[in-house]
Amino acid sequence: MIKTIIEPFRIKVVEPIAFTTTKQRAELLKNSGHNLFQIDAQNITIDMLTDSGTSALSSKQWSALMLGDESYAGASSFHHFKSSVQNIFGFSQVLPVHQGRAAERILFSELVKPGNIVPGNAHFDTTRANIERLQAEAVDLPCRAWLESSDQDFLGNVDLERLKNLIETSGPENIPLVILTITSNTCAGQPVSMQNIAQTSQLLKTYGIPLYIDAARFAENAYFIKLLEPGYSKRSILSIANEIFSYADGAMMSCKKDGLANIGGFIALKDTELTERLKVNLIVSEGFPTYGGLTGRDLETIAVGLQEVLEDDYLNYRAASASFLWNGLNKLGVPLIQKPALHAVYVDAAQMIPHIEPAFLPGQVLVCELFLEGGIRTCEIGTAMFGKTDKKNGTQICAQRELVRLALPRRVYTQSHFEYVIEAFENIQKRVDKLSGLKITKEAPALRHFTAVFEPTRLLIPSK
Ligand SMILES: Cc1ncc(COP(=O)(O)O)c(C=O)c1O
Repeated sequence: MIKTIIEPFRIKVVEPIAFTTTKQRAELLKNSGHNLFQIDAQNITIDMLTDSGTSALSSKQWSALMLGDESYAGASSFHHFKSSVQNIFGFSQVLPVHQGRAAERILFSELVKPGNIVPGNAHFDTTRANIERLQAEAVDLPCRAWLESSDQDFLGNVDLERLKNLIETSGPENIPLVILTITSNTCAGQPVSMQNIAQTSQLLKTYGIPLYIDAARFAENAYFIKLLEPGYSKRSILSIANEIFSYADGAMMSCKKDGLANIGGFIALKDTELTERLKVNLIVSEGFPTYGGLTGRDLETIAVGLQEVLEDDYLNYRAASASFLWNGLNKLGVPLIQKPALHAVYVDAAQMIPHIEPAFLPGQVLVCELFLEGGIRTCEIGTAMFGKTDKKNGTQICAQRELVRLALPRRVYTQSHFEYVIEAFENIQKRVDKLSGLKITKEAPALRHFTAVFEPTRLLIPSK
């Protein structure tokens, strides 16, 4: 039997990628203020900035797109979308929205009041921002194993003991909902176990608190449950997903991830009375409840994508390609975060470049080096993103970790692209001692990493 796991597709349409010289890249880097968000995509060779909205559509999705019914109300595309969502999530009510953060904004504006607390395993940035803008507090309760950097399975779990304590001390009446994000993007894409989901649901039922699931990467989470959790190896991904959502009162999803779509999202829930209230907000801010800011084409694309993402061949290939990159870097001795996730590989830049202190942004330095070396675009998740400049003395208040995320767009890159990335790391390793730090010279008051200007503390010299 052949053991090699191959891409379960052949390529029908190709999109050229850019190749630039080292000299051009050095120039681009300088002009962008050493900020990769400021570099145009036409100058990027391998784009690993995000796995969100960057999937390749299948031939079935392209043909479904032609079925798009663009009627304002009651389009057939909405019914295709709704039944695809219901097949997996099982909720009677389905409201489309233009992307995940719109689902958060609309759901929270009905449920969350000033002074409330919204706990979760670890909230994604936009989830947190949408809670905080309502003057409520978003509380992360990741499991102990994650905090201790253990290599045990299901590091995305919520800490049930701390959750119970928080409910007891704050009072259940102050907690309008609890959110489990599967997989946990904030905890490096680590999954949540079925046991943890079921126990969270059981605990919340005793207090009458609803459980919502952020389902952006639900199929990747279901894959890990099948692979790692006793009793699930023979179950289909669909039946695992059905069980996950049977424990919840509702779900929000950004379909830009496991919807295999370039835009879209939804809220799905049981509560019909709440749905009517959400519809009012939806109509005001997104659109009529049968399109919610999406075209009929988008609805059709998602309807097909949600089913394709459940296929074993797809998920096995997804896991094999993430492991290929993880193993290749691991073999080189590149320090990596715990276990391979499916949507990204995380490099520990502080360990890889130990002579650059966190205040001089080793993560951003590595991001710049990867671009300089091979036109590879990645994202710093460290002090540039989460740190702050101390107003008193201008020094950096550093983040907990200095990571670089190599996100994996779905069905876009092949093994040879990843070999190229591994080789780029190998070349950077050879000159790692010579790398110097960066400092921030300009920053916005919020979400500074998107627009910040960085300057080398010593001139970065192109390697070739
Ligand atoms: C877990 C999670 N939730 C919500 C969102 C927000 O989704 P969107 O980008 O579609 O607004 C993201 C986006 O990356 C995410 O990773």
